[in-house]
Amino acid sequence: MATSSNFMDMAKLAPTLPLERRCPPFPLRQFRGFWMPEGLFPALETIHSRFQTRPSDIFLACFPKSGTTWLKALGFATVNRREHPPSGEDHPLRLHGPHDCVKFFEPSIAAAGGSEDVFAAFPSPRLLSTHIPYSLLPEHITADSSGCRIVYVCRDPKDTLVSSWLFSKKASAAGNVELLKPASYTINEALELFCDGRCVTGPQWRHVVEYWEESQRRPEKVLFLRYEDMLREPARNVKKLADFIGYPFSGEEEAAGVVDAIVELCSFDHLRSLEVNKTGVLEVGFTIGNKSFFRKGVAGDWINYISPEMAAKLDGVVGEALRGSGFRFDAVGDST
Ligand code: A3P
Repeated sequence: MATSSNFMDMAKLAPTLPLERRCPPFPLRQFRGFWMPEGLFPALETIHSRFQTRPSDIFLACFPKSGTTWLKALGFATVNRREHPPSGEDHPLRLHGPHDCVKFFEPSIAAAGGSEDVFAAFPSPRLLSTHIPYSLLPEHITADSSGCRIVYVCRDPKDTLVSSWLFSKKASAAGNVELLKPASYTINEALELFCDGRCVTGPQWRHVVEYWEESQRRPEKVLFLRYEDMLREPARNVKKLADFIGYPFSGEEEAAGVVDAIVELCSFDHLRSLEVNKTGVLEVGFTIGNKSFFRKGVAGDWINYISPEMAAKLDGVVGEALRGSGFRFDAVGDST
C-alpha cells in the first residue's frame, strides 16, 4: 500500500488506500489507522503544507456527534463576549447556526476545492473546528512553539454511535447525489461497522484516546472535556474552557451572571428553539438542515435504540481496545 509520510499528493494517494462504502454519508479511506472521508484528502494536504497557524488559533476538536455544535457555541460566545454580550438580542448565535459562527476546518477547505487556505483572511483569534485525529494534525498546529490551543470534547461511544447513525441517515437523505445512499443502514449494521472502527474518523476510541493522552502530557496545549460532565456542570466547564483559551471570566463578570448567560444562550433547548436552527441550512460540501444538529442532547439515550446485548458488545470492544491506556469513558470529573 502506498503511504505518504509528508501528506503530499494526497489526492493521488487516496484511491490506493483501503475503501469502505457501507458507512454513509461518505466513502471512507483508511489512512494511518483512521477511516477518513475520501473527499478530505486534498484538504489534509493543504492543512499540512499551506495552512499558516497563528499563536492565537483555537481548535475545537471532537469525534463527530460528540458535542461539536455545543462546543462551537460555547467557544464563540466566550471569546466574543465583550463585542457580543450573551444576553444581547442580536447576538450572532441567535441569528446564525453555531456551524456558521465557527467554521468546520477541513470540510471548509475541501468545499472550496481542497487546495486553498480559505482561513488566511480570517481575523484573529480564529476558532476552527476539526474532526481530524490528533495524530493526523500537522506539527505546525501540535507543536508547543505554535502557541495555538486545542479543546477536545469526548462522549460515551454508545451515545455517539446512536447520534451518528441517526444523523448519517438524515445526511444521506440530503439531495446531493455524491453522498452514499445505502438501501439499508440498520442500527445493527452501524454497530458492526462502529465496533470495527469503520465510521467517519473512526475508530472512535482511538480518536478520543489520542487527544486524551496529549491532554495528560501537555495540559497547557490540549484541554480534554467530556460531554456528560458538561451536561452535569455546564458553568464549571465553561469557566474551564475560558481559562484554557485565555479568556478567563473576571469576578465582576461572574457576579454579573455572564457565565450563566453563556450557558443559557448555548443550551440545547435555547439553540434548538431559534428560528435559524429550525429552518436554516448548512452548506459544508453537502447541504443539511441546521435542525439535524439538535436531536435530544442528553446522556444515555442509547438505551432507546440498542439492546443491552448490543451495548455490552460495544463496551467490550472499547474496553479491550483501551486496556492499558489508563483512559475510561465512564470516569467522572477528571477532565482536567
Ligand atoms: P443527540 O443526537 O444524542 O441528541 P455534534 O454537534 O458533534 O454533531 O453532536 C451532535 C449531538 O450533540 C446531538 O446529540 C445533539 O443533539 C447534541 N447537541 C447539539 N447541541 C447541543 C447543546 N447545545 N447542548 C447539548 N447537546 C447538544
